[in-house]
Amino acid sequence: MTNRKTEKIFLSPPHMSGEEMSFIRKAFESNYIAPLGPQVDAFEREFAEYVGIRHCLALSSGTAAMHLALRILGVGQGDEVIASTLTFIGSVTPVVFQGASLVFVDCDRTSWNMDPDLLKNALEDCKSRGKMPKAVVPTDLYGQCVDYERILGLCEEYGVPLVADAAEALGAFYLTQRRRDANGEQKKDNALLGGLARENYCHAGAEAKAAVFSFNGNKIITTSGGGMLASDDKGFIDYARNLSQQAREDFPHYEHTEIGYNYRMSNVLAAIGRGQLRVLDERVEAKRKIFAYYREALGDIPGIEFMPEASYGRSNRWLTVILITPEEFGADREEVRLALGSVNIEARPVWKPMHLQPVFDCDLAAKKSKKKQNGKRIYIARRIGGEVSEDLFERGLCLPSGTAMTEGDLNRVVETILKRSN
Ligand SMILES: Cc1ncc(COP(=O)(O)O)c(C=O)c1O
Repeated sequence: MTNRKTEKIFLSPPHMSGEEMSFIRKAFESNYIAPLGPQVDAFEREFAEYVGIRHCLALSSGTAAMHLALRILGVGQGDEVIASTLTFIGSVTPVVFQGASLVFVDCDRTSWNMDPDLLKNALEDCKSRGKMPKAVVPTDLYGQCVDYERILGLCEEYGVPLVADAAEALGAFYLTQRRRDANGEQKKDNALLGGLARENYCHAGAEAKAAVFSFNGNKIITTSGGGMLASDDKGFIDYARNLSQQAREDFPHYEHTEIGYNYRMSNVLAAIGRGQLRVLDERVEAKRKIFAYYREALGDIPGIEFMPEASYGRSNRWLTVILITPEEFGADREEVRLALGSVNIEARPVWKPMHLQPVFDCDLAAKKSKKKQNGKRIYIARRIGGEVSEDLFERGLCLPSGTAMTEGDLNRVVETILKRSN
């Protein structure tokens, strides 16, 4: 028997509903043990319905989804793409795959997401240099939507397409005036958003040119590994579908007029996704309850703050994240993380900002001298701001947020943290 008092508590492990097996069985029965098949088709349809984006393409990862989106937007050698600096690297590596370079934009303190004022500065800066970026790819960090109202407005004003990195934000929604205007009197089910008018809300990424989602093992729902590319533009998704299947032409033999990728999702994994999708709303509720539990237990402790929820949206609270101010709390983020680790509890620092990653060099003074570090290639990038994300990285700690956690598990985390306080 396992001992729940010492058993490892993971940051955000997979949480199966039990329904997945019946879909997996169907995949086996149909013998579509392949990167295509009826489970993939159904998963794409059901996912499209959930997020309210017309066309969806199931892929092997979120990174693959971002890569296809950028390729289709024509991102290439010599181009720039604007991205959030406070993100996971899978958000931005596809820019490098395409031979383009990155402009990292800092976040604000109200959402921890791309600061729209700094985005405007970045776009103005590009304009003054005479070369507009090929795309803006902001991340909906830890399940909180960026300020789409303002960011979409800026992308429209400057004529740059928006690719939403909603990898962490499945089940997150936001409110915009444009959505209210577009909907007029139309009414839909409003139960999901706790009585708020659902018809006024958009799912994360819904109004972007394209949106990227991830089903990696740690995400709010998982297919073990996988991703989705979503867009209202049928041509965009049709082209992405073709590129994701080695860009095969319509011939009986294999015929190729351009280079594609092997990026499609397996029919077996899509079956897992279908089972998971059915419990997504439950998972969001569970994540939000975990957040509420931690806040109730730790919210009044001097030196602890919680990631805020922006007024325009409803986060899925994929991970509960706290900030620790050592002078007030009595220990710093790393001491708390190590204390948790010593009793078999996994916690992780807030993502290290991209502009601090050794693989990117945002220091233009070093441009010529530092093309390689220990034989590894480094990439020249630019940054706009960075101090806010540096502070969040320094003080931020992601707490275990698995939706199968018991009250006893949550208590173990809380008590271990409290032992380190003043
Ligand atoms: C913000 C963000 N972007 C992109 C990715 C890449 O997704 P994947 O791991 O499915 O390639 C992830 C997570 O893994 C992520 O958290």
